[in-house]
Amino acid sequence: MSGGQIDTVMQEDRLFPPTAEFVSKTHITAAKYDELYERAQADPEKFWGELAKSELHWFKPFGKVLQWNEPFAKWFVGGQTNASYNCLDVHLATPRRNKAALIWEGEPGDQRTLTYQQLHREVCRFASALAGLGLKTGDVATIYMPMVPELAIAMLACARLGVVHSVVFGGFSAEAIADRNNDAQAKVVITADGGWRRGKLLELKATVDEALAKSPTVKNCVVYKRAGNNPPMKSGRDHWWHELVETASANCPAQPLDSETPLFILYTSGSTGKPKGIKHTTAGYNLFVKKTFQWVFDYRDEDIFWCTADCGWVTGHSYIVYGPLSAGASVLMYEGAPNWPKEDRFWDIIERYRVNILYTAPTAIRAFIKWGDQHVDKHDLSSLRLLGTVGEGINPEAWMWYHRKIGREKCPIVDTWWQTETGGIMMSPLPGAIATKPGSCTKPLPGVIPSVLDESGRPVQRNNGGMLCISQPWPAMLRGLWGDDERYRQQYWSKLKGHYLTGDNARQDDDGYYWIMGRIDDVINVSGHRLSTIEVESALVSHPLVAEAAAVGRPDELKGQAVAVFVTLRGGTPGDALKRELQAHVKKEIGSLAVPDDIRFTATLPKTRSGKIMRRLLRDIAAGKELVGDTSTLEDYAALAKLREEEES
Ligand code: PRX
Repeated sequence: MSGGQIDTVMQEDRLFPPTAEFVSKTHITAAKYDELYERAQADPEKFWGELAKSELHWFKPFGKVLQWNEPFAKWFVGGQTNASYNCLDVHLATPRRNKAALIWEGEPGDQRTLTYQQLHREVCRFASALAGLGLKTGDVATIYMPMVPELAIAMLACARLGVVHSVVFGGFSAEAIADRNNDAQAKVVITADGGWRRGKLLELKATVDEALAKSPTVKNCVVYKRAGNNPPMKSGRDHWWHELVETASANCPAQPLDSETPLFILYTSGSTGKPKGIKHTTAGYNLFVKKTFQWVFDYRDEDIFWCTADCGWVTGHSYIVYGPLSAGASVLMYEGAPNWPKEDRFWDIIERYRVNILYTAPTAIRAFIKWGDQHVDKHDLSSLRLLGTVGEGINPEAWMWYHRKIGREKCPIVDTWWQTETGGIMMSPLPGAIATKPGSCTKPLPGVIPSVLDESGRPVQRNNGGMLCISQPWPAMLRGLWGDDERYRQQYWSKLKGHYLTGDNARQDDDGYYWIMGRIDDVINVSGHRLSTIEVESALVSHPLVAEAAAVGRPDELKGQAVAVFVTLRGGTPGDALKRELQAHVKKEIGSLAVPDDIRFTATLPKTRSGKIMRRLLRDIAAGKELVGDTSTLEDYAALAKLREEEES
C-alpha cells in the first residue's frame, strides 16, 4: 500500500442480470434508475424536497430543504412531522389499516400478528403510559428487550412523544448498559423479565438491575412480561408493562415534532475509546429509510418482508421498524436463533409464512452452508422472490450458494452497503435495474455521491483501492455523536474537507461497480457487528492480572472475523484457567459478542521504537501467517518484532 491506495487481489467477472420476469414487474427499471440518479445528482434539494412533500405527513410544512454548515446538516428546516405518525396513523385512513404490520414468531413457537390498526392502538397505549411516567420530548429512554413486538412498540411509542430511544442489543452486559445510560443521561429503561435464545432463558431484568445500580439518571424501569421468570421488582422504580397499559388511554395523538428532533441514539464502536452514540433525527431519516426500503426491496403491498436482524442494531431500526412500516409493509419478526430447535428454522419460517423477501447477514449464510443443504431441501422456498445481505462483505462462494440454493437462480440478491452512521442503505443494486456481481454492492442509490480517494483527497484510478467517502450530505446522515460534536468532526470530517469519511476502503471497477475492501481503522467486524479493538483491550486491562493487551481481528470461517488478543500479565499464571477467567471478564464488561476466541500470553507486546503496538505483525500471527517459534505458554515476539521493524522502516 502506498499513498493511500490499496492493492486489490480479487477478480470477479460473473454478471447476473435480473430475470425477464422480475424486470417485467419491477417498480424501477434500469432506465428509471438512471433517470432518478441523474435527477438527484443535478438538483439534490429539489429531488429530496419533492419526495419529502409527497412521502411524509407534515403537521407544518418545511421551508428550506437543506441547511448545510459542514459538518452539520439540517434537513427540511422548520417543518413538523412525526415518525410514529408516518409509520402508523397515515395507514389508518386506507385499506392497509387491516393489513398485517407485524407478523411475529417467538423462539418457542408462539405466534402473534398485529394489523396496522392494532399496532397503532398498542403504541398509543404505551406512549400514554410513558407520558404518565413524566417522559417528554427530548428525554432519553434505553430499550433492552428481546425481539418481541413490544420492542417495536416501545420504539414507536417513544417516537410518538419525541422521546429519544437508545436501543441496546440484548447481548450486551450490565456494564455496557450502564455506560450507555450514563452517556445519554437516560431517564427510563424499558426491558423484559427475560427472553429466549437457543432454548435458554436470558435473564434480562437481572442484567438491567445490575446496570441500574450504576445509572443514577434512570428513575423508572418498565418490564414487559415475556418469560414469566418473576424477577424482583423494586417498588417505586420498576413497573410491569401490562399494569401500566391497563389504565393507559388509547388516545394519544402523535406530537408534531421539528424535523430535526432527535429520533434515536444508537451506540456503535469506533476506532478509539468508548462507544459512540450515533445521533439520528426525525424527518430526513424517516424519508430516507422509507424510500430506500421501497427502492432496494422493490416492495409490493402483497409482499411479506423478513429482515432477520435484531432491533438492537441499525438494520432493525431502519428495515424492521421505520422503513417498512412507513411504506405500509407486512414485516416478519422472529425472536430467536436460526438453529433452534433445528438448523432449518429459517427455511421452516419462510415456508410457513410464505415469505417473499429475505434480508439477512453473510455470517448467517456461512453458517447455513456449514450446516448443510439437507436442512434447506426439506422446505418449499418458492415464495421467495428477492434476497438481500447486509453487515459485511459476502464472499463470492457464499453469494453463489445463496443464489443457487435459496434463490433457485431466480431471485436477485441485493448486497446492501451502509453503516449505523448513514442511517439507511447507501449502495446496493436496485434489483430490477442493475445486474449483480457476486461480492459487489454495485452502485449508489439516488442522492448518494460516493468517491474513492487517496490520502491527499484525490480520486484514485478505477480498479485501485482507496478511502470510501460520501461527498454530499444525504437526509439520513448522522447529525453528530451524542454530546460530542468535536469527536464527530474529528472522526468523520477532519481528514478530507468536504467528504464524509466512512472508514471503509473500496474500489470501483471498470463498470463503475463498487467493491468494499474492509475497514481502514481498528474496527473488527464479528458476525456483521462492529467491535473496536480498544474497547476489548480496555476491558482486558481492567482485569487486575492484566498489564497490557492488544486485540486484533483474524479471519474466521463463520463469523468473518474473530477476536484474537495478546496479553501481558502483572501476576497470575498463564494457562487455560486464566484464559477462561479473562473470557468471562470480557463478557461481563462488554458482552458475549466481544469474548476473544484466542488469548495468547506474551512476555512483551511487539512495539515499534516509537512505542506503537505492531498490529500488522499481531494480525499475521493471529491469522497463522507468521509462525512463532516458541510455542510454550508464554510467547515472546521480540525477535519477530525486531525483524519486522527493520523491514518496515
Ligand atoms: O465495514 C462496513 C461493513 O459494516 C460497517 C458498518 O457497520 P454497522 O455500522 O454495524 O452497520 C452494519 C449494518 C448496516 C461498514 O462500514 N458493511 C456493512 N455492509 C456491508 C459492509 N461491508 C461490505 N459489504 C456490505 N454490504
